[in-house]
Amino acid sequence: MDNGLQKFGGDWTTEKLLRIQKYLSAYTTALKNKPFRLIYIDAFAGTGYRNIKSEENQQTLMFPDLAAEDTEAFLAGSAKIALQTEPRFAEYHFIEQDARKCKELERLKQDFPAKAQDIHIDNDDANAALVRICDLMSKRRNLRAVLFLDPFGMNVSWQTIEAIAATKAIDMWYLFPLGVGVNRLLTKNGIIPDTWQQKLNNIFGCSDWKEQFYTTEIQQDLFSDEETSTKTGDFQQIADFFVRRLDSIFAGVVKKPLPLYNSRRNPLYLLCFACGNKKGTPIALRIAGHILKG
Ligand SMILES: C[S@@+](CC[C@H](N)C(=O)[O-])C[C@H]1O[C@@H](n2cnc3c(N)ncnc32)[C@H](O)[C@@H]1O
Repeated sequence: MDNGLQKFGGDWTTEKLLRIQKYLSAYTTALKNKPFRLIYIDAFAGTGYRNIKSEENQQTLMFPDLAAEDTEAFLAGSAKIALQTEPRFAEYHFIEQDARKCKELERLKQDFPAKAQDIHIDNDDANAALVRICDLMSKRRNLRAVLFLDPFGMNVSWQTIEAIAATKAIDMWYLFPLGVGVNRLLTKNGIIPDTWQQKLNNIFGCSDWKEQFYTTEIQQDLFSDEETSTKTGDFQQIADFFVRRLDSIFAGVVKKPLPLYNSRRNPLYLLCFACGNKKGTPIALRIAGHILKG
């Protein structure tokens, strides 16, 4: 990737945030003269700043004068990136379950005083808050939003995704927990505890994943018929299945989402994009598709 950030922290978090950043400014630019009130929704907002954990990042901080501007951008979390976006959004909705992080989010009001009264912080579970927001959005036709779903794990239920799609007004970026969540629950021998099965049903919104990712054989002997399952679904098949699920309820979906890898090249997440509004879909998919390729 040809940007200053890469040499300081070419990790998957940077990858993800750079892409969101690009989309947000492309979005507000494209809709600048349209009669819509533009909203940014961050459903797993964090603190507004990134946690500095990796060694690479530590090295960056040891040489702060190397590139102050890059370091500053590198440290911003998604909420701050949204507030920095120009042309600006009319409203910012930050949802965060952790009360301490909400307090830190409050500080963004001081950092962006001109936007302070348009910043709304919701200390709640993302699913509950999103269903409320989507309900309000469905009632007002002049609203358009970009939503970022950036969970650590399998926190987003399919019912929430359905509520988002039903607004027909939201462009959704979703960091789908491919390697950190779903693939781990899909055990090799197909013996999956009930609680895990429920989690998989909840994230996919169906139980069809079983026949998608497993082949079943019946072994017969004199006394019984024994059914054995073998996992045949790989990362690509899981990704394709989830894209088909999104495609079944959104106006448009980027067919090739971006896998984000750790340093050992294991796919952790899949950065997915889906567009709710039919009219806006061609341009949204063109921009998001380009961003996910680059
Ligand atoms: C990956 S971090 C978000 C990082 C943020 N997007 C950024 O760029 O700085 C996920 C956040 O979701 C919060 N969280 C976890 N479960 C949640 C839930 N069910 N509802 C809302 N927030 C939740 C965590 O406290 C954490 O701050």
